[in-house]
Amino acid sequence: MTDPDRSPAYARSATPVAAGAGTSRDIAIDGDMVRSAYARWAPVYTLLAAPTALGRKDAVAKVNSIGGHFLEAGVGTGLALPDYAPNVTITGVDLSHDMLVRANEKIAKERLANVTGVHEMDLTNLAFADGAFDGTVCMFTITAVPDAAKVMDELARVVRPGGHVVICSHFRAERFPWTLSDRILSPFATRLGWNPSMTIDGVLGCEALELVSREDTRPSGLFDLLTFRKR
Ligand SMILES: C[S@@+](CC[C@H](N)C(=O)[O-])C[C@H]1O[C@@H](n2cnc3c(N)ncnc32)[C@H](O)[C@@H]1O
Repeated sequence: MTDPDRSPAYARSATPVAAGAGTSRDIAIDGDMVRSAYARWAPVYTLLAAPTALGRKDAVAKVNSIGGHFLEAGVGTGLALPDYAPNVTITGVDLSHDMLVRANEKIAKERLANVTGVHEMDLTNLAFADGAFDGTVCMFTITAVPDAAKVMDELARVVRPGGHVVICSHFRAERFPWTLSDRILSPFATRLGWNPSMTIDGVLGCEALELVSREDTRPSGLFDLLTFRKR
């Protein structure tokens, strides 16, 4: 397995994130919107993210049950980092410098020995070799990117054959009351930095990945936990 720490670039990605079509359907969120939204949210992100706490724990439990070296894609402020088990090594990437400052503080404060580092990088253009990781995990982030299908391709590319891609997110709801909250939040997508009405279709079409499970996380009906195996 290639050691991602030896890959050439952890520098800021040279490729800007294009405002995009793809799976965000009618809402285009580009890299500048993401950076500016998360610069605003970073200081209060722990509070804002409270509704996702249980879903995040379920996703981390899935990763812990698999084990190995995982890339956390869209690591944000590193809320999940203290919950990974010792059988998991984590490398994190995110587009937002402001979010990563918090993640680095957490790594130092909690002395998280199984985190190799967090790096400013665009998920549509990862600076890692093919097959560099045993798995990737992406929580509450796939609906914040301009082209979810392209990110799924990248997440699959950096995983070794037989490795796993774990996705946890809210997709366009099919049941009340989440249908109502989607409708209320969608007009604010660019300010939120994520698209509450993105459908699940965009993450299911990656040819390199086979869906092995689709589970509901807590709170019921709000988040999907998808586990794929790289063919
Ligand atoms: C809702 S936060 C989730 C953070 C973390 N996964 C968690 O569970 O708390 C979404 C994160 O995705 C990051 N993000 C959005 N688009 C990105 C991209 N194209 N490349 C890398 N990170 C991106 C944002 O900067 C933000 O930190």
